[in-house]
Amino acid sequence: MASKRGALIVLEGLDRAGKTTQCQRLVQALQQSGRPAEMIRFPDRSTAIGQVISAYLEKKSELEDHTVHLLFSANRWELVPVMKKKLEQGVTLVVDRYSFSGVAFTSAKLGLCQDWCMNPERGLPKPDLVMFLKMNPAEAAARGQFGTERYETSSFQKAVQEKFERIMKDPSVNWKVIDASQNIEEVHNDIKAHSLDIIERTENTPLGELWK
Ligand SMILES: Nc1ncnc2c1ncn2[C@@H]1O[C@H](COP(=O)(O)OP(=O)(O)OP(=O)(O)O)[C@@H](O)[C@H]1O
Ligand SMILES: [Mg+2]
Repeated sequence: MASKRGALIVLEGLDRAGKTTQCQRLVQALQQSGRPAEMIRFPDRSTAIGQVISAYLEKKSELEDHTVHLLFSANRWELVPVMKKKLEQGVTLVVDRYSFSGVAFTSAKLGLCQDWCMNPERGLPKPDLVMFLKMNPAEAAARGQFGTERYETSSFQKAVQEKFERIMKDPSVNWKVIDASQNIEEVHNDIKAHSLDIIERTENTPLGELWK
């Protein structure tokens, strides 16, 4: 009998919605219940491409908009062999941002259409579940000072929110909207319930390809 694969679970949402907090909590809960799980975050700033992205986000360098988008995408692609191997080994991957942030952020910049933004993402491992941590941008901003990185302004976050609303209409992706204005424990319980369900339902199914 073929061994069971892990699930690919993504958390998305605006800055400060609680993605990193919840990814960590989920991985911890899964591990404690004896399910192998690991966290991945995008951008992965540890690679050569990730370092170029990091310098751009920290405003230490300037890059043309299409170029940045393709670098973010390349940063996901370069992780694909590792991701596939882990999933095949039965490890559930909990991912902090994925292609949906990539498309939402770039298309929120004037003049770059959603279809163009989606193209380099096509064929990436398709998440079995994408949970969108929903809360209004003003409330998210109140959770902590926005930093000094690029994109960390409330007007830009509002534009990103509108793009996410559009992307979430895509029925080919398994979206679940989570009320991220609840307390950390309540949000965690919602996320854990959806995750346990998807892990069970996908363990004997093949991994899909995103937007293909
Ligand atoms: N449900 C919650 N209620 C109140 N505060 C929260 C909640 N979840 C997270 N926080 C706090 O809000 C801040 C942002 O959380 P976190 O870093 O997890 O968000 P994020 O979505 O990963 O943000 P970013 O996009 O900037 O990486 C942290 O100080 C965290 O402790
Ligand atoms: Mg974070």
